[in-house]
Amino acid sequence: MAKTIFITGTSSGLGKLTAKYFAQQGWNVAATMRSPEKETELTTYSNIKIFKLDVTDIEQVKNATKQAISAFGKIDVIVNNAGMGTYGALELAKENDIDWQFAVNTRGPINIIRAFLPHLREVGGGMFINISSFMGVTTAAPLGSLYNMSKFALEGLIEGLYYELKPLNIELRLIEQGGSKDNNFVDNVTWNTDPEITAYDEMTRKLKNLFANAGDEHKDDPMVIVNAIYGLASGESKKFRTIIGASGNYLVNLRNSVPIEEYLETIAANFG
Ligand SMILES: NC(=O)c1ccc[n+]([C@@H]2O[C@H](COP(=O)([O-])OP(=O)(O)OC[C@H]3O[C@@H](n4cnc5c(N)ncnc54)[C@H](OP(=O)(O)O)[C@@H]3O)[C@@H](O)[C@H]2O)c1
Repeated sequence: MAKTIFITGTSSGLGKLTAKYFAQQGWNVAATMRSPEKETELTTYSNIKIFKLDVTDIEQVKNATKQAISAFGKIDVIVNNAGMGTYGALELAKENDIDWQFAVNTRGPINIIRAFLPHLREVGGGMFINISSFMGVTTAAPLGSLYNMSKFALEGLIEGLYYELKPLNIELRLIEQGGSKDNNFVDNVTWNTDPEITAYDEMTRKLKNLFANAGDEHKDDPMVIVNAIYGLASGESKKFRTIIGASGNYLVNLRNSVPIEEYLETIAANFG
């Protein structure tokens, strides 16, 4: 019998590619997105069903998870993919943007996991694959503290949950990817700005420049990430953390191999 995967944030980027790939491999796919009325591509697959879901809206979370379970009978794998980035100096961030960063990237997965646990307990197990970032296990640049917070918190959540879900046969996985060649994410970043405060202007200029001009060697092919998700979902890989890409692996190795003070100074020197 075909297995079923439930994915958040399938309107673009990694979520959409993952939905299509799993459908092509014969899985049933519950593809969720905030604006299903705009979708024209995933609707062409007979084994993809689309559900409306903003991961920050508890009522929509309840409805989408209930509808997906009732449509497919059993959900085997859930991918917490929906995410966004708020960048810029913390001092300049708007109150709502601070809360929204946490609401989407961290509270969102909490909402999804809590909604699915009764079902996974009932069917005897399952798997949550969580799309984090290498920014969830190390810092890499200035002005990303809110994004770092949201993904570090996601990593802590998932690692902490391991112990209580293991006896229930519910598996947890984390993927730490770097920048994607498909750059919707960067295009959608919310930048904290305040024309009255110029103290962070030079650093912001350097970071925006880095985002705009990073060569392909610093970015991951999104299909490599999709394949990693597939490897985890199908059980070929049992890795708790999968770090993808040369940049992520380099930075995480560096972070783990030198004292934190040395690591911080190395990164800061690039932006001084
Ligand atoms: N691309 C990168 O550079 C990069 C690097 C490391 C990690 N990641 C992580 O990879 C994941 C996927 O990002 P991506 O690269 O595929 O970027 P993307 O193309 O911008 O996709 C983000 C997806 O999340 C959805 N989303 C945003 N807020 C949502 C909400 N409140 N409820 C439900 N869905 C919401 C977006 O839907 P809408 O169309 O409705 O906005 C979109 O479908 C994210 O978790 C991101 O943090 C990305």
